[in-house]
Amino acid sequence: MNKNVFPKGFLWGGATSAYQCEGAWNKDGKGFAITDLLTTGTRRNPRKLTLEVDQNTYYPAKIGIDHYHHYKEDIKLFSEMGFKVYRMSVSWARIFPNGDDEVPNQKGLDFYRNVFEECHKYGIEPLVSIMHHDTPMALALKQDGWLSRKTIDAYVKYAKVLFEEYKGLVHYWITFNEINMTMNYFGDVYGGAILSNGTRMIDINHVSDDAMSSEKQNKRFAALHNQFVASALAVKLGHKIDSSNNIGCMIASDAHYPYSCNPQNILAAQNSMRKLWYCGDVQVRGEYSYFTRRFLEEKGVTLVVSEEDKKILKEGTVDFYSFSYYTSGTDCVDQEVDTDSGNFNLGAANPYLKKSEWGWAFDPDGLRWVLNEIYGRYHIPLFIAENGLGAIDEVSPDGIVHDDYRIHYLKEHTKAMKQAIDDGVELFGYTWWGPIDLVSASTGEMKKRYGFIYVDLDNEGHGTLERKPKDSFYYYKKLIDTNGACVFEDEE
Ligand code: BG6
Repeated sequence: MNKNVFPKGFLWGGATSAYQCEGAWNKDGKGFAITDLLTTGTRRNPRKLTLEVDQNTYYPAKIGIDHYHHYKEDIKLFSEMGFKVYRMSVSWARIFPNGDDEVPNQKGLDFYRNVFEECHKYGIEPLVSIMHHDTPMALALKQDGWLSRKTIDAYVKYAKVLFEEYKGLVHYWITFNEINMTMNYFGDVYGGAILSNGTRMIDINHVSDDAMSSEKQNKRFAALHNQFVASALAVKLGHKIDSSNNIGCMIASDAHYPYSCNPQNILAAQNSMRKLWYCGDVQVRGEYSYFTRRFLEEKGVTLVVSEEDKKILKEGTVDFYSFSYYTSGTDCVDQEVDTDSGNFNLGAANPYLKKSEWGWAFDPDGLRWVLNEIYGRYHIPLFIAENGLGAIDEVSPDGIVHDDYRIHYLKEHTKAMKQAIDDGVELFGYTWWGPIDLVSASTGEMKKRYGFIYVDLDNEGHGTLERKPKDSFYYYKKLIDTNGACVFEDEE
């Protein structure tokens, strides 16, 4: 028996989100999501949010990669790679254009039904995120998004429609993508939809004191609490509607290391990891962690949690913990050390690691470490909902993208997963982020490509939208065919 294969039934696949790939932003009755109205940016030049459509501006969500009209072709390509699972999100504003309409939009419901049926045609299990950053714009404008308890009611009504409508077609759900993003300054837009906090976007060069003022922090943590309540209510409801539903949380779980053995750096890294545990403890254990009071106090945040909410959180704990892992960061109290302008300000540059063109450190060992940390804390099944490499791809004269760098990234992270499984971690699936090129969330660029499938489209929306497998497409196919064993070939 080959000791290097993954557990039987391991769910290999890929992940996308609605606003980053669907396009058709106002088609068939769809309303706008807050993420639709984000302009294109770059690593150094943050995206901007406009409150209404500016005719002279290009919005990447308008076209996405036009998955709305290409979903059959795209799912067929996924099936050719052997996908067992396709993680995708439903656009709330496609179902309820204003977020809280009386009745759902039938054409929106039909679209997702078609997508799920298409997946099943190829034996692909859909895994559905109920919300992936994209709160309906109308709720942001009307009630400051997740700051309002009314948004909880609207979300639960929307989730109920999904659970009822797609009963039997969908068995795996995620309530909120990267829920811990809401506690960050860019969470005002992504996830939180708190317009009264301003429209500041991811600016890796400069996070102003104003952006981190206690007034703004208070709103973020209040919004995050409302999302916890909404998630717990949805979990309870989802189980009631179909007891075979598996419902998970999704938490951005990049690794945080101390920069050195300076005890101050160790404490700083411990505090950074609390950004994960803060959410995980509520969603998995059903209660706020012991460190919450001081953690919030230090940010100038006061959070009052009612007894009724405490009960809701306890009754709506998740079945599995899913997470995104791309990179690691180092925490350093020494101001002299070079800071790393990488993935969401993850601290000082780690001299042991190489970085991508967007500054994200390549750290497969960090994935093994984080899998062990999470499993050690919660002891529930884990799922890697996102992992991948965003890179600039060149189409070679033969018309193909030869992306050995992506294959290398995939291979090393797969080995790290296997190490964690051998450590005893219960991991049941892996979805590569962006198996088909799509719009980058942080910068809005198309040129930051993750795909095994190339899409002919540039940052300004020019291109034929033709899909073409890259070298990594055939590698991932082989990886799935061999249930992971092929990544160890060079070691045998
Ligand atoms: C995660 C998000 O944070 O990272 C995705 O859930 C996002 O939506 C992914 O696309 C990669 O980030 P980026 O900025 O490279 O697209």
